[in-house]
Amino acid sequence: KIERVHAREILDSRGNPTVEVDVYTGCGFGRASVPSGASTGTHEAIELRDKEADRYRGKGVLDAVDNVNTTLESDLVGMDVRHQRGIDALMIALDGTDNKMTLGANAILGVSMAVAKAAADSLNIPLYRYLGGNNAYNLPVPTMNVINGGKHAGNDLAIQEFMIQPKGSDAYGEALRMGAETYHALRKILEDKYGASGTNVGYEGGYAPPLSMTTDALDALMSAIDEAGYTESDITIGIDAAASEFFEGEAYSIDGKLLDGGELTDFYLELIDSYPIIYIEDPFHEEAFEDFANLTSEAWETLIVGDDLFVTNTNRLAKGIEMGAANALLLKVNQIGTISEAFDAATLANRNGYAVVVSHRSAETEDTTISDISVAIGADLIKTGAPARSERTAKYNQLLRIEEDLGDIARYVQL
Ligand code: PGA
Ligand code: ZN
Repeated sequence: KIERVHAREILDSRGNPTVEVDVYTGCGFGRASVPSGASTGTHEAIELRDKEADRYRGKGVLDAVDNVNTTLESDLVGMDVRHQRGIDALMIALDGTDNKMTLGANAILGVSMAVAKAAADSLNIPLYRYLGGNNAYNLPVPTMNVINGGKHAGNDLAIQEFMIQPKGSDAYGEALRMGAETYHALRKILEDKYGASGTNVGYEGGYAPPLSMTTDALDALMSAIDEAGYTESDITIGIDAAASEFFEGEAYSIDGKLLDGGELTDFYLELIDSYPIIYIEDPFHEEAFEDFANLTSEAWETLIVGDDLFVTNTNRLAKGIEMGAANALLLKVNQIGTISEAFDAATLANRNGYAVVVSHRSAETEDTTISDISVAIGADLIKTGAPARSERTAKYNQLLRIEEDLGDIARYVQL
C-alpha cells in the first residue's frame, strides 16, 4: 500500500528546475525525476511551469510539486502500489484534460515512474523485470548522439543530431565500448580540424563543432568510425533532423537552401545512398504525415522514426500506421505523461511491425527509468545521447547493470 507520496523541485542537466517524486510503501521506496525537451512537439503533454518571472526565469515547478503533495498524495495513499494501470488512470481522471495541463504531465509522470519503482522495490525485483516479466531480456542497440546541431548547439547545422549505432557485436557492453571509442576518435578528428573549441559539446554531450553543412558532419563521423578501427558493418549512422525546427512555414531551410517536402525527400535519399545511414528521425515537420509516408515507401530499409510526429500518443501513432507514415516509434515518457500510456504506444507500434526507440530528452537527470523500460518492452534501440556526461551515461550504465543481472539469458538486439 502506498503510504506517502512526496515531490520536490530539483535541477535538470540544463540547470532548470524539474520535478522529483518519492513514493513510500510499508516495505519499499521509489524515486523518479522528470526530463524536459528543447525541441518539443506541439502535441506533447503539458509540462507545468510556474511562470513567476522572478524565480528561475519563469521555469519553476512549484505548482506541479504542490499538485503532487496535495491532490495526488491524498488520492493515492492507501492504493496498492502494484496497480500501475489503476493509479495512472486515476491521475488522468483527476487531471481531466487531454494534455494533462491541470496537474501537469511533469507532476503525473514523476508519480507514475516513482510508483513503478516503489512497486519493484516492494517486491524486491529489478524494475525491468517488474515492468517486463520473463520476456525482458533484450538489450537495445544504443543510438548515440555524437554531433549536436539544431536547437541543441550553437553551430549552424540544421540537423539536430548525428548518431552512431554500434551494432556489430553480440553483447551490449562491447557495443557500448565501440561507441565510446568512436566518440573519442571523433574528438581527435574535430580537434585536429577545428582546434580545441571544435570539441565543445551540446545539450546531449555530442560535439558541437562550427559546421554548417550536413555532409561535413557525416564525413567527420565516417572518418571517426574508420579511425577507431571499425567498418560500416560494425557501426552505422543515424540522424534526427527535428525538421519542425528548420521548417519555415512553406519550406525547409537547410544547408543554405530552401527545400520543399519533395526536394527534402530527394536530399535524404541521396544521403542514404552515400552513407551507411539506417535511421532518420523527424525528417519532416510534425504535421507532414504524407511526406513521411513517401520517404518511408522510398526508403523502406531505413528506420523512419516519428518523434514530434507521434509524440508517444496512440491516436497520432494510429494515424501514422494507417498512412504508412513511418516504420518506427520514438518513445518519450514525458511526451505522454504516464508509464501505462507509454506502454500502450509501444504495444501498438509492435503489433504493427514498427520498431520502438526509447528516448531521453535534451534536459535529463540522473534518473535511469528509461533504461529499464527499454528492456521491459523489448525496444530495438535506445537513444540517450553521447557516451559522455553523467545524465547520459547513467542510462547506458544502467543497461550494463541489467546485462550483468540477466547473465546468460541477456541478448543484444541484432538490427
Ligand atoms: P528534445 O530533443 O528533448 O530537445 O525535444 C530530443 C529529440 O528531438 O529527439
Ligand atoms: Zn527527435
